[in-house]
Amino acid sequence: MSSRTPMIAGNWKMHKSGTQAIEAAERLKTLVKAASGVDIMIAPTFTALFQVGQVLKGSPIALGAQNMHWEQQGAFTGEISADMLVDAGCSQVIIGHSERRQYFGETDETVNRKIKAALQAKLTPVFCIGETESQRLAGETFSVLDKQVRNGLKDFVFSDLGNLVVAYEPVWAIGTGQTATREQAQEAHENIRSLLETLFNKDLASSTRILYGGSVKPDNVRALMEMPDVDGALVGGASLDPDTFSKLVFFNEN
Ligand code: PGA
Repeated sequence: MSSRTPMIAGNWKMHKSGTQAIEAAERLKTLVKAASGVDIMIAPTFTALFQVGQVLKGSPIALGAQNMHWEQQGAFTGEISADMLVDAGCSQVIIGHSERRQYFGETDETVNRKIKAALQAKLTPVFCIGETESQRLAGETFSVLDKQVRNGLKDFVFSDLGNLVVAYEPVWAIGTGQTATREQAQEAHENIRSLLETLFNKDLASSTRILYGGSVKPDNVRALMEMPDVDGALVGGASLDPDTFSKLVFFNEN
C-alpha cells in the first residue's frame, strides 16, 4: 500500500452547457460528501469553470481546466492563461491530453512550456502521456513514454515538481471501451516511476501520483486501483454522470 493519496479526476471534455455543468457539480458535491482519503477533481469546459468553481466552494472537489496557454497574456486569440484559470477558481490543469496532441498540434515542447507556466501560477499540472495503438503493436510503448516524459519535463529540477501528477492514458483505450488490463497499466506506471527516479530522484518518483486513464468504469476501477503503481484515474465518459463518477470516487466500496 503506497502512501500516495489516491486521486479520481473527471475530464468533461467538450460536454455540458453552463446549466448542465452546475447541475452535475451540485449533484456530485452531495454524492461525495462522505468521501475521505481520496482527492477528487473535475475539469469542465472553460466557459463553465467560474460557475462550477462557485458551486464547489467549501467542497473537497478541486476544479481543473482541460488546457491552457503558456504565455501570461498577450495577443493570442482564443487562448487562456494559467493566471486566468486561477482567477476562475482552478487549482489544477490537464496538460498534453492525447486529444490535444492528436487534433490541436500539441507537442512535447508545448507541453513542457505549459507545465512550466502552470507551476509558476501554482496550478497542479496533470501531465498526460500515452502511446497509440500502432506504437504499442510495434513494441514502442516504453520508448514513446520515455520520450514524452523526458521532453515534457525537460529543464525541471525535482524541487519544481512536488505537485506534478502524471496521467498514463494509452490512446487506444480512450473512449473505446477497451481498457488496458491492470497488468498493462501497472507495467507502464512502474516504468514511468522508474524513469522519474532516473531523471530526478527516488523521493519524487515515490511521491508522484500516476493516474491511469482510458475507459475507466465503475466495474474496472477497483482492479486497476489495486495495482501498486496505479494511484488514481483520469476519467472521460464515466465522469459525465455524477452518479457513475461518484462510484469511481468510492472505488474501494465497488
Ligand atoms: P475515457 O477518457 O474515460 O472516456 O476513455 C479518458 C480521458 O480521455 O481522459
